[in-house]
Amino acid sequence: MAITPNLTDHAILVTGAGRGLGKSMSEKLASCGATIAVVDLDPAAGEAVAAGIRAQGGKAHAYAADVSSRPAVLDVAARFAQIHGRIDAVVNNAMLLRYEPVDQVTEDVLSRMVSIGINGSVWGAQALLAHLDPQRGGAIINMASPVAERGFPNTSAYSLVKGAIVTLTKVLAAELGPRGVRVNALAPGSVPTPGALGLNDKAEYERRARTIPMRRLGREEDNAEACAFLLSPEASFINGEILHVDGGIAAAG
Ligand SMILES: NC(=O)c1ccc[n+]([C@@H]2O[C@H](COP(=O)([O-])OP(=O)(O)OC[C@H]3O[C@@H](n4cnc5c(N)ncnc54)[C@H](O)[C@@H]3O)[C@@H](O)[C@H]2O)c1
Repeated sequence: MAITPNLTDHAILVTGAGRGLGKSMSEKLASCGATIAVVDLDPAAGEAVAAGIRAQGGKAHAYAADVSSRPAVLDVAARFAQIHGRIDAVVNNAMLLRYEPVDQVTEDVLSRMVSIGINGSVWGAQALLAHLDPQRGGAIINMASPVAERGFPNTSAYSLVKGAIVTLTKVLAAELGPRGVRVNALAPGSVPTPGALGLNDKAEYERRARTIPMRRLGREEDNAEACAFLLSPEASFINGEILHVDGGIAAAG
């Protein structure tokens, strides 16, 4: 059965929401009553997601922005807050998915991944803090991964970003808890999204599914349900948690 917390009157900004996990989290949160800022580098993809949510009776606004740019993220947040009066939560989901052997990692690719994943998550936190209602508090969800805990070959750039995001999540949970802001991370595992399908072919996914303790791949809705729970009032004492939605990948080691 689906989790349907009451998120009516919540304004939630989701980055990288034009497809994949960002899209499914946006749709889920909107179905719980939240108003969504659908933020993506790809304007057409973001518009399509926001239009789809509105067609289902939900509330969504699309914004084109590169999350690696602090001014761009803060500008989007200001425009969204102007409509809603405040921002209640930010989901820092945007990332460039790319795997390659360490000796092939270029300066450009590494700095792009760091600036989207790490810098972008810091700018997302700042966006929330700039428009938080201090009486209501708020929440941040960062996107981690089982790769932050296990050594997966050929994922050096991606994994170091995810490791930093785990650290950032814990630091901000401690720093912002006293201000009423909960900071948690989701660590999804092996979900064949459009971005992930560029990393692993069908045969690799079939092989993986046989090794995952739950003996199946992740589904976008597994992660979206966990996201809705973490942003719900029922999760009001969960802070600094890295919630694995990976069928046991990280635990199995
Ligand atoms: N798919 C998985 O198995 C998996 C596992 C663990 C973690 N994750 C994490 O989940 C998140 C979403 O992954 P996904 O699989 O849905 O990826 P995806 O590539 O399918 O979607 C990513 C979206 O982010 C957008 N984006 C990329 N760079 C951006 C930028 N600079 N500014 C704004 N938007 C940008 C893209 O346009 C795209 O719409 C990522 O943080 C990823 O690391 C995914």
